[in-house]
Amino acid sequence: MNSPADFCAQAIARLRAEIPGRCVVAASGGIDSTVAAVLTHRAIGDRADALFVDTGLLREGEVERVRGIFAATGLRAEIIDGSERFLAALEGVDDPEEKRRRIGAAFIRLFEAEARARGTDRLVQGTIAPDWIESGGALRDTIKTHHNVGGIPADSRLTLVEPIRDLYKDEVRAVARYLGIPESDRQPFPGPGLAVRVNGAVTRERVAQLRRANAIVEEEVERAVAAGTLPAPWQYFAVLLASRTVGVTGDNRIAGEAVVVRIVESTDAMTASAVALPHPLAVRLAERITRELTPHVVRVLYDLTDKPPATIEWE
Ligand code: XMP
Repeated sequence: MNSPADFCAQAIARLRAEIPGRCVVAASGGIDSTVAAVLTHRAIGDRADALFVDTGLLREGEVERVRGIFAATGLRAEIIDGSERFLAALEGVDDPEEKRRRIGAAFIRLFEAEARARGTDRLVQGTIAPDWIESGGALRDTIKTHHNVGGIPADSRLTLVEPIRDLYKDEVRAVARYLGIPESDRQPFPGPGLAVRVNGAVTRERVAQLRRANAIVEEEVERAVAAGTLPAPWQYFAVLLASRTVGVTGDNRIAGEAVVVRIVESTDAMTASAVALPHPLAVRLAERITRELTPHVVRVLYDLTDKPPATIEWE
């Protein structure tokens, strides 16, 4: 990338050429899609409709947070409640790649309907380089199907417009800062949401458990960063494991579940290293997660693995 200013000028010119009429923009509130949405809005103004889908797979407080980001960037995004549709699409599915395909397809069907209603076939997405590099292609093995790449059904009538597909995350952040987007250094959150952090069956109840555990990880890590006991990590989150594990409450042995805490350092998500967890933080995470989620969660583990060989997300 040249300078952010040059990149934006070129991207805006290309968007004007690629979108002769109206378009819909898939806006998740994450940094990538917000950059794509702001560029599109600057290119074609009110001919772009930004749509934010509440998949029911979002983090605690996400909808309010995203509303704030849109308000600060002058984007008028419509919020669509898709939670029933996404949970229904995931019913009975526990294979990670199948989850990604179903979520991708549900997104595309929803955007197809919204685009048709607005008389367009153009869908703007915030796909970035690692998304398509890792989703595979003619010469690449598939590492995983990013929801905004591999999950698109072959019969889709949508024409994709991807203004930042050649950028890496650190470049996207530089562009975001240049465009005045708040929280440009916020940790990434995958498009398929908490579904790829709930190992095994994705039910409303299991998503709710993971959502709470994830909020505890975010709160405690951010508290440690603010106190200066931990450098700000690249990503920090919780994963709910599929296997049952035995716990004890009072005199009773109970069958519960286990949560994995994952905290990694990285510069572009292509490689990452597991962060050495300060012991007081480890103790506090185990104590809070088990106390607040008992009897559902009875065990807390820490993921020590770098990428490679692991990926950052579990699925
Ligand atoms: P992995 O797990 O492949 O993740 O090491 C690399 C980075 O990408 C994020 N991620 C996604 N982002 N759609 C996205 O927009 C996806 O399907 C997706 N899968 C993973 C992940 O959080 C990490 O920052």
